[in-house]
Amino acid sequence: MKTITTLSDLRAARQLLHGSVGLVPTMGYLHEGHLSLIRRAKMECESVVVSIFVNPSQFGANEDLSKYPRDLKRDLNLMEPLGVDLVWNPTAEIVYPAGYQTWVEVESLTRPLEGAIRPAHFRGVTTIVTKLFNAVQPHKAYFGQKDAQQAAVIQQMIRDLNFPIEMEICPTTREADGLAMSSRNQYLQGADRPAAAILFKALSAAKSAYAGGERNAKNLRNIVQETLATEPRVQVQYVSCADYHTLSELDTVRGKSLLSLAVMVGKTRLIDNVTLE
Ligand code: PAF
Repeated sequence: MKTITTLSDLRAARQLLHGSVGLVPTMGYLHEGHLSLIRRAKMECESVVVSIFVNPSQFGANEDLSKYPRDLKRDLNLMEPLGVDLVWNPTAEIVYPAGYQTWVEVESLTRPLEGAIRPAHFRGVTTIVTKLFNAVQPHKAYFGQKDAQQAAVIQQMIRDLNFPIEMEICPTTREADGLAMSSRNQYLQGADRPAAAILFKALSAAKSAYAGGERNAKNLRNIVQETLATEPRVQVQYVSCADYHTLSELDTVRGKSLLSLAVMVGKTRLIDNVTLE
């Protein structure tokens, strides 16, 4: 496993990779969710590249860029046994050199949900993912279902910009109590951690109602809201029941849909979702 910083070293190492190349883009501080993406890439591609870059342009001014967890040595130890070929860990100066002024933007899909609360977030995500695609030139790229809107936005960008890349969206990995794995879970202090299990309980309660025949989107949102309201440490930012592809809010659930939420648990912001189909 080679760890590379500069773009010229990455390009040289990329040329030496054989066969199909799978890219797993990450911001580091890897958890089992990331490792499951890497394992899947390893099964499906001859060579695997993992990027580790805490991308400043996807963080808002009052967000957690400076305290975002970082531990490259730990990440490398976790990846070594998985057979990763290359790790690209560029600096912010390499990705965004002085005078940088080019951005990639997906329009309507980035407006609701996360985009409504984090206005510049997706512009940062689509720009860095474009740069990663250009630098690594993968055949396949692996993302998690946990960031469902991010996955939809990147899928749209791949189509619109004709990237010859197959995107794989992999299932959310959960802790034993249902909490979706996230590098940000380590911010959860004391009683906030057990309280955070309510997110998946709330989504599961609505999913059970859907399985029992409930198709009214407002009723499904209410089930999520009411379950979340039983946990006083949780403050809801949004609960959505939307079309899976357009992310437009629904009145009635018919095709594949996305039930998603964003909440604060104490000082920690968490998102999660389940699909209805
Ligand atoms: O999902 C993430 O970790 C990030 O948004 C990504 C895709 C690596 C871009 O920085």
